[in-house]
Amino acid sequence: MNPTITLRRSLLYVPGDRPEMLAPAGPRGQAKAAQRGADGLILNLEDAVAPARKELARQTVARALATADFGVAEVIVRVNPLATDTGYLDLLSIMPNAPAAVLLPKVTTVEEVRFAAWTVERLEGLHGLPAGRTKIMCMIESAAGILAAPEIAACHPRVAALLFGAADFSAETGCTRTPDGRALLYATSRLVLAARSAGIDVIDAPHMKLDDAKGLARGAQMARELGFDGKSAIHPAQIAAINAAFSPSQEQIAWARRVIETLTGQPGADLGAAVLDGQLIEAPHLTRARRILALAEATAADSW
Ligand code: GLV
Ligand code: MG
Repeated sequence: MNPTITLRRSLLYVPGDRPEMLAPAGPRGQAKAAQRGADGLILNLEDAVAPARKELARQTVARALATADFGVAEVIVRVNPLATDTGYLDLLSIMPNAPAAVLLPKVTTVEEVRFAAWTVERLEGLHGLPAGRTKIMCMIESAAGILAAPEIAACHPRVAALLFGAADFSAETGCTRTPDGRALLYATSRLVLAARSAGIDVIDAPHMKLDDAKGLARGAQMARELGFDGKSAIHPAQIAAINAAFSPSQEQIAWARRVIETLTGQPGADLGAAVLDGQLIEAPHLTRARRILALAEATAADSW
């Protein structure tokens, strides 16, 4: 059996104070932001929304959750830190029409994640929502966050994904970002290991340079090679390249089918190892092949 996969190849940041992005548009009448092909939308109330516009953003996002059609996109709301009144009010305002996930910014400790999970649970109860419906995702974007990432990833069953925040991380650590991403390599690899050891997803930071197709493709490819499940986006024009980078290629799908056929396809055979194209294949290759096919199935279902 192939594992079930929630597609999170591309998560598009949508500023919460832009009602026009969240309003219905086009013949399908979905929110404009939902028509750009991203697997998920991050309705953003935190950084990028000016302090004077926080209230407008909160109301806009709460209204959109109540009324807008987001199609198949996973709807995630990035709140302000819950230790602030702004963040707490954000959570109170969005939970009556609970999103698929709440994204906590600047997470550094397990305590804040457990507090968020506890509060979300209370609010689900108060609003008569199914328990456990709203997941928690954590932005890891500081030195302390990177060091605590393994504990954060595993601290509560509601935690579904870690997201890297490269802008805050490099501002805090003082590292210099170069096109090859070498200054971020330890942090990003550590995040992948933390998420994988907890069995959750891990999403790379966005490519901040607009009109840089080459840099975007290189960054997405690198994230994919490191083991990320997807990459966030700051502009709809980035989505197609990101989706392509995190979707299995025809060659990979063909390889996966042949691995499964070779190791399990013969009548009565469940081979421990075999040789395919001159390469030894065994149980780990089967695991990888099944994951590729699950991703291919999810991708195909998404494009119907
Ligand atoms: C995102 O929040 C970042 O800091 O890069
Ligand atoms: Mg940030």
